[in-house]
Amino acid sequence: MSKSANRPESRGRLQFVIRRIGLWCFVLLLFLAAAYGANNKLDISEYTYASDELSYSFDGFRIVHISDLHNKVFAQDNAAVMQEIRGMQPDIIVLTGDMIDASNHTDIPAAELFMQQVSEIAPVYYVLGNHENLLDKADLTAFEEKIREYGIVLLENERVQIPSKTGQTISLIGMDDNSLQANLLQTLAEEAPDDFCILLAHEPQYLEEYYAKAGVDLVFSGHAHGGQFRIPFTHQGIWAPDQGFLPELTEGCVEAKSGDTTMYISRGLGNSSFPLRLANHPEIICVTLRVSS
Ligand SMILES: [Fe+2]
Repeated sequence: MSKSANRPESRGRLQFVIRRIGLWCFVLLLFLAAAYGANNKLDISEYTYASDELSYSFDGFRIVHISDLHNKVFAQDNAAVMQEIRGMQPDIIVLTGDMIDASNHTDIPAAELFMQQVSEIAPVYYVLGNHENLLDKADLTAFEEKIREYGIVLLENERVQIPSKTGQTISLIGMDDNSLQANLLQTLAEEAPDDFCILLAHEPQYLEEYYAKAGVDLVFSGHAHGGQFRIPFTHQGIWAPDQGFLPELTEGCVEAKSGDTTMYISRGLGNSSFPLRLANHPEIICVTLRVSS
């Protein structure tokens, strides 16, 4: 057969290949657009926590919980996110670490911007995560000085008393992720003068081993990023640091098996070295305290 007789067939094959490539590019673009939307759409998770150990002056007290920002900046310099937080009317805001990322996209000014913005909404209490502790010492010290200028209370293995509007208090303990020790936590919890005690601790997997044993009432935690990729409609994450594959503690409200401790785990706002989540929107938690009889 002559070469000219083959031309229509090879042109047809070329058009087929071009159409296939075009289709795959379109599918890829759709996927990237969906992934971008999913990584920037904020979920607000509202919970009510009731206890008969709370004084009536804390009935209705609202705690906004933010974790694992990893120096992410949302659109318009976080304007919509700050509006959401302001709308929750928090009495306090708690930050449970990894506000800065120390892997491949460290951006300390971005974290400082976010923290300055939240400090203008309500009193802020903060504990360091594993990422802050990976920073260069001088950078971390400068960051700590800066956020203290904003009035943010950095809790490094210490306890403070949080006042209600009428002057009663509850205890708030913050443990630095780098030096979390069961004995120290136990001592701080035992020395707390109030009946009700809240703990901020970056990593959730110590719920039974440390937190419940110390007898704290409420824990706020993060670190697991919701399991990064979640199997759609199941809430099951694929992997989390320090828990491995199919982790148990990645989000939501969890009751300790022993004792009377409840833990809220934030899926966090940002990503670390791997820049993508699936079926796992960034999240802010708001817990309203109620007095039960
Ligand atoms: Fe993190």
